[in-house]
Amino acid sequence: MRTGHQGTGPGTITPDGCAVELYSRLPVGAEPDIIAAAVPAGARILELGCGVGRMTHPLLERGFAVTAVDESPGMLERVRGARTILSPIEDLDLGETFDVVLLASFLVHTGDVEVRRGLLRTCLRHLADGGCVLIQREGEDYHSDLPRQRVDPTGFTVRTLSSDPVGDGVNSVRVEYEFPDATWTQTFRARPMTPEAFEEALAEQGLRVHGYLTEDRTWVRAMPVSP
Ligand SMILES: C[S@@+](CC[C@H](N)C(=O)[O-])C[C@H]1O[C@@H](n2cnc3c(N)ncnc32)[C@H](O)[C@@H]1O
Repeated sequence: MRTGHQGTGPGTITPDGCAVELYSRLPVGAEPDIIAAAVPAGARILELGCGVGRMTHPLLERGFAVTAVDESPGMLERVRGARTILSPIEDLDLGETFDVVLLASFLVHTGDVEVRRGLLRTCLRHLADGGCVLIQREGEDYHSDLPRQRVDPTGFTVRTLSSDPVGDGVNSVRVEYEFPDATWTQTFRARPMTPEAFEEALAEQGLRVHGYLTEDRTWVRAMPVSP
Protein backbone atom coordinates (compact mmCIF):
# COMPACT_ATOMS: atom_id res chain seq x y z
CA MET A 1 0.00 0.00 0.00
CA ARG A 2 1.31 3.50 -0.84
CA THR A 3 2.07 5.76 2.13
CA GLY A 4 -1.08 7.61 3.15
CA HIS A 5 -3.33 5.41 1.00
CA GLN A 6 -5.78 2.98 2.51
CA GLY A 7 -9.00 1.23 1.60
CA THR A 8 -11.61 -0.72 3.53
CA GLY A 9 -14.48 -2.90 2.39
CA PRO A 10 -14.98 -6.27 0.69
CA GLY A 11 -12.52 -7.69 -1.83
CA THR A 12 -9.12 -6.74 -3.17
CA ILE A 13 -7.75 -3.27 -2.43
CA THR A 14 -5.15 -1.75 -4.79
CA PRO A 15 -1.93 -0.03 -3.58
CA ASP A 16 -3.66 3.36 -3.92
CA GLY A 17 -6.60 2.22 -1.77
CA CYS A 18 -9.20 1.52 -4.51
CA ALA A 19 -11.47 -1.49 -4.13
CA VAL A 20 -11.78 -3.74 -7.20
CA GLU A 21 -15.34 -4.76 -6.33
CA LEU A 22 -16.39 -1.15 -5.81
CA TYR A 23 -15.04 -0.05 -9.19
CA SER A 24 -16.84 -2.99 -10.81
CA ARG A 25 -20.08 -1.58 -9.45
CA LEU A 26 -19.57 2.12 -10.19
CA PRO A 27 -21.41 3.25 -13.32
CA VAL A 28 -19.49 5.25 -15.88
CA GLY A 29 -20.39 8.93 -16.20
CA ALA A 30 -19.91 11.34 -19.08
CA GLU A 31 -16.21 10.48 -19.47
CA PRO A 32 -16.43 8.32 -22.64
CA ASP A 33 -18.55 10.99 -24.39
CA ILE A 34 -16.13 13.76 -23.40
CA ILE A 35 -13.21 11.70 -24.72
CA ALA A 36 -15.00 10.60 -27.90
CA ALA A 37 -15.89 14.21 -28.73
CA ALA A 38 -12.25 15.29 -28.36
CA VAL A 39 -10.38 12.74 -30.46
CA PRO A 40 -10.51 11.36 -34.02
CA ALA A 41 -12.79 8.40 -34.71
CA GLY A 42 -11.01 5.07 -34.29
CA ALA A 43 -8.04 6.63 -32.47
CA ARG A 44 -5.49 4.39 -30.75
CA ILE A 45 -5.81 5.22 -27.06
CA LEU A 46 -3.37 4.41 -24.26
CA GLU A 47 -5.41 4.45 -21.05
CA LEU A 48 -3.31 4.87 -17.90
CA GLY A 49 -4.83 3.64 -14.62
CA CYS A 50 -7.75 1.87 -16.30
CA GLY A 51 -9.03 0.04 -13.21
CA VAL A 52 -11.64 -2.60 -14.10
CA GLY A 53 -12.35 -0.94 -17.46
CA ARG A 54 -15.18 1.38 -16.44
CA MET A 55 -14.12 3.78 -19.22
CA THR A 56 -12.28 1.20 -21.34
CA HIS A 57 -15.40 -0.78 -22.21
CA PRO A 58 -17.51 2.16 -23.46
CA LEU A 59 -14.49 3.44 -25.42
CA LEU A 60 -14.12 0.04 -27.12
CA GLU A 61 -17.84 0.09 -27.92
CA ARG A 62 -17.33 3.48 -29.59
CA GLY A 63 -14.73 1.93 -31.92
CA PHE A 64 -11.48 3.07 -30.28
CA ALA A 65 -8.51 0.70 -29.99
CA VAL A 66 -7.61 0.80 -26.30
CA THR A 67 -4.44 -0.38 -24.58
CA ALA A 68 -5.29 -0.43 -20.88
CA VAL A 69 -2.61 -0.10 -18.19
CA ASP A 70 -2.87 -0.62 -14.45
CA GLU A 71 -0.56 -1.78 -11.65
CA SER A 72 -3.30 -3.93 -10.07
CA PRO A 73 -3.74 -7.49 -11.42
CA GLY A 74 -7.12 -7.66 -9.66
CA MET A 75 -8.36 -4.63 -11.59
CA LEU A 76 -6.87 -5.68 -14.93
CA GLU A 77 -8.36 -9.17 -14.93
CA ARG A 78 -11.82 -7.58 -15.19
CA VAL A 79 -10.98 -5.66 -18.36
CA ARG A 80 -12.53 -7.29 -21.43
CA GLY A 81 -11.69 -6.81 -25.10
CA ALA A 82 -8.71 -4.49 -24.68
CA ARG A 83 -4.99 -5.20 -24.72
CA THR A 84 -3.99 -5.01 -21.05
CA ILE A 85 -0.59 -4.16 -19.55
CA LEU A 86 0.29 -4.72 -15.90
CA SER A 87 2.74 -1.97 -14.88
CA PRO A 88 3.23 1.09 -12.74
CA ILE A 89 2.50 3.97 -15.11
CA GLU A 90 5.78 5.72 -14.24
CA ASP A 91 7.81 2.70 -15.48
CA LEU A 92 5.87 2.09 -18.68
CA ASP A 93 7.92 2.12 -21.87
CA LEU A 94 6.14 0.20 -24.61
CA GLY A 95 8.37 1.42 -27.43
CA GLU A 96 5.31 2.49 -29.40
CA THR A 97 3.15 5.56 -29.67
CA PHE A 98 -0.57 6.34 -29.57
CA ASP A 99 -2.90 8.99 -30.98
CA VAL A 100 -4.26 9.67 -27.49
CA VAL A 101 -2.88 9.08 -24.01
CA LEU A 102 -5.49 9.20 -21.28
CA LEU A 103 -4.55 10.13 -17.70
CA ALA A 104 -7.89 10.31 -15.90
CA SER A 105 -9.20 9.82 -12.36
CA PHE A 106 -7.19 12.76 -10.96
CA LEU A 107 -3.97 10.71 -11.04
CA VAL A 108 -2.09 13.89 -11.99
CA HIS A 109 -2.86 15.16 -8.45
CA THR A 110 -0.69 12.50 -6.83
CA GLY A 111 0.95 13.87 -3.68
CA ASP A 112 4.40 12.72 -4.78
CA VAL A 113 5.87 15.23 -7.21
CA GLU A 114 8.37 12.68 -8.56
CA VAL A 115 5.53 10.25 -9.33
CA ARG A 116 3.64 13.06 -11.08
CA ARG A 117 6.69 13.82 -13.19
CA GLY A 118 6.94 10.12 -14.03
CA LEU A 119 3.27 9.95 -15.03
CA LEU A 120 3.59 12.94 -17.34
CA ARG A 121 6.85 11.65 -18.84
CA THR A 122 5.07 8.38 -19.64
CA CYS A 123 2.32 10.34 -21.39
CA LEU A 124 4.83 12.20 -23.53
CA ARG A 125 6.94 9.10 -24.27
CA HIS A 126 3.94 7.32 -25.78
CA LEU A 127 2.51 10.16 -27.84
CA ALA A 128 2.46 9.92 -31.65
CA ASP A 129 3.20 13.02 -33.75
CA GLY A 130 0.11 15.21 -33.66
CA GLY A 131 -1.35 13.19 -30.78
CA CYS A 132 -2.75 14.56 -27.54
CA VAL A 133 -2.87 13.76 -23.85
CA LEU A 134 -6.27 13.96 -22.16
CA ILE A 135 -6.04 14.66 -18.44
CA GLN A 136 -8.81 14.72 -15.84
CA ARG A 137 -8.07 17.14 -13.02
CA GLU A 138 -9.90 18.06 -9.85
CA GLY A 139 -12.67 20.67 -9.93
CA GLU A 140 -12.22 24.02 -8.19
CA ASP A 141 -14.12 23.07 -5.01
CA TYR A 142 -12.77 19.54 -4.71
CA HIS A 143 -10.98 20.16 -1.40
CA SER A 144 -13.21 22.93 -0.01
CA ASP A 145 -16.85 21.93 -0.57
CA LEU A 146 -16.82 19.49 2.34
CA PRO A 147 -18.33 17.30 3.53
CA ARG A 148 -20.42 16.62 0.42
CA GLN A 149 -22.51 13.74 -0.76
CA ARG A 150 -24.13 12.55 -3.96
CA VAL A 151 -26.92 10.00 -4.11
CA ASP A 152 -26.50 8.07 -7.35
CA PRO A 153 -29.73 7.07 -9.10
CA THR A 154 -28.42 3.49 -9.39
CA GLY A 155 -28.68 3.13 -5.62
CA PHE A 156 -25.53 4.14 -3.76
CA THR A 157 -24.28 7.23 -1.97
CA VAL A 158 -20.80 8.67 -2.28
CA ARG A 159 -19.60 10.96 0.48
CA THR A 160 -16.39 12.97 0.36
CA LEU A 161 -15.93 13.34 4.08
CA SER A 162 -12.75 15.32 4.57
CA SER A 163 -9.59 16.68 3.01
CA ASP A 164 -6.96 17.62 5.56
CA PRO A 165 -3.51 19.07 4.96
CA VAL A 166 -0.70 16.66 5.87
CA GLY A 167 2.20 18.95 4.89
CA ASP A 168 4.13 19.95 1.75
CA GLY A 169 0.94 21.10 -0.01
CA VAL A 170 -0.60 17.63 0.15
CA ASN A 171 -4.02 16.69 1.55
CA SER A 172 -5.34 13.43 2.95
CA VAL A 173 -8.78 12.84 1.42
CA ARG A 174 -11.35 10.41 2.79
CA VAL A 175 -14.24 9.12 0.67
CA GLU A 176 -17.00 6.66 1.53
CA TYR A 177 -19.24 4.69 -0.86
CA GLU A 178 -22.36 3.24 0.73
CA PHE A 179 -24.36 0.55 -1.07
CA PRO A 180 -27.35 -1.24 0.47
CA ASP A 181 -25.22 -4.36 1.10
CA ALA A 182 -21.67 -3.02 1.50
CA THR A 183 -19.61 0.05 2.31
CA TRP A 184 -16.15 0.93 1.00
CA THR A 185 -13.85 3.71 2.13
CA GLN A 186 -10.77 5.11 0.47
CA THR A 187 -8.18 7.40 2.02
CA PHE A 188 -5.64 8.86 -0.35
CA ARG A 189 -3.12 11.67 -0.75
CA ALA A 190 -3.80 14.41 -3.27
CA ARG A 191 -2.02 17.62 -4.15
CA PRO A 192 -4.46 20.44 -4.94
CA MET A 193 -3.28 22.50 -7.91
CA THR A 194 -4.57 25.82 -9.17
CA PRO A 195 -4.93 25.99 -12.96
CA GLU A 196 -1.64 27.91 -12.99
CA ALA A 197 0.18 25.29 -10.88
CA PHE A 198 -1.27 22.55 -13.09
CA GLU A 199 -0.07 24.29 -16.25
CA GLU A 200 3.38 24.71 -14.67
CA ALA A 201 3.50 21.01 -13.80
CA LEU A 202 2.79 20.19 -17.43
CA ALA A 203 5.26 22.72 -18.78
CA GLU A 204 7.99 21.25 -16.57
CA GLN A 205 7.57 17.99 -18.54
CA GLY A 206 7.32 19.55 -21.98
CA LEU A 207 3.53 19.62 -22.24
CA ARG A 208 1.19 22.55 -22.62
CA VAL A 209 -2.54 22.96 -22.22
CA HIS A 210 -4.17 22.97 -25.63
CA GLY A 211 -7.64 23.65 -24.34
CA TYR A 212 -10.17 22.66 -21.71
CA LEU A 213 -12.82 20.17 -22.85
CA THR A 214 -15.43 20.91 -20.20
CA GLU A 215 -16.80 24.12 -18.73
CA ASP A 216 -15.59 23.19 -15.25
CA ARG A 217 -12.06 22.82 -16.70
CA THR A 218 -11.63 19.34 -15.22
CA TRP A 219 -10.88 17.76 -18.62
CA VAL A 220 -7.83 19.07 -20.39
CA ARG A 221 -6.24 18.46 -23.76
CA ALA A 222 -2.46 18.74 -23.55
CA MET A 223 0.11 18.56 -26.34
CA PRO A 224 3.89 18.66 -26.48
CA VAL A 225 5.47 22.09 -26.36
CA SER A 226 6.63 22.83 -29.91
CA PRO A 227 10.41 22.57 -30.29
C1 LIG B 1 -9.50 5.64 -8.88
S1 LIG B 1 -9.14 4.19 -9.80
C2 LIG B 1 -9.90 4.65 -11.35
C3 LIG B 1 -9.94 3.56 -12.36
C4 LIG B 1 -10.54 3.98 -13.71
N1 LIG B 1 -9.76 5.05 -14.33
C5 LIG B 1 -11.97 4.42 -13.53
O1 LIG B 1 -12.26 5.61 -13.71
O2 LIG B 1 -12.80 3.58 -13.22
C6 LIG B 1 -7.41 4.41 -10.09
C7 LIG B 1 -6.71 3.23 -10.78
O3 LIG B 1 -5.41 3.63 -11.14
C8 LIG B 1 -4.49 2.63 -10.74
N2 LIG B 1 -3.24 3.32 -10.43
C9 LIG B 1 -3.07 4.35 -9.56
N3 LIG B 1 -1.80 4.78 -9.59
C10 LIG B 1 -1.16 4.00 -10.49
C11 LIG B 1 0.19 3.96 -10.97
N4 LIG B 1 1.11 4.81 -10.52
N5 LIG B 1 0.51 3.03 -11.90
C12 LIG B 1 -0.43 2.16 -12.36
N6 LIG B 1 -1.71 2.15 -11.95
C13 LIG B 1 -2.06 3.07 -11.02
C14 LIG B 1 -5.11 1.93 -9.56
O4 LIG B 1 -4.62 0.61 -9.44
C15 LIG B 1 -6.59 2.00 -9.92
O5 LIG B 1 -7.00 0.87 -10.64
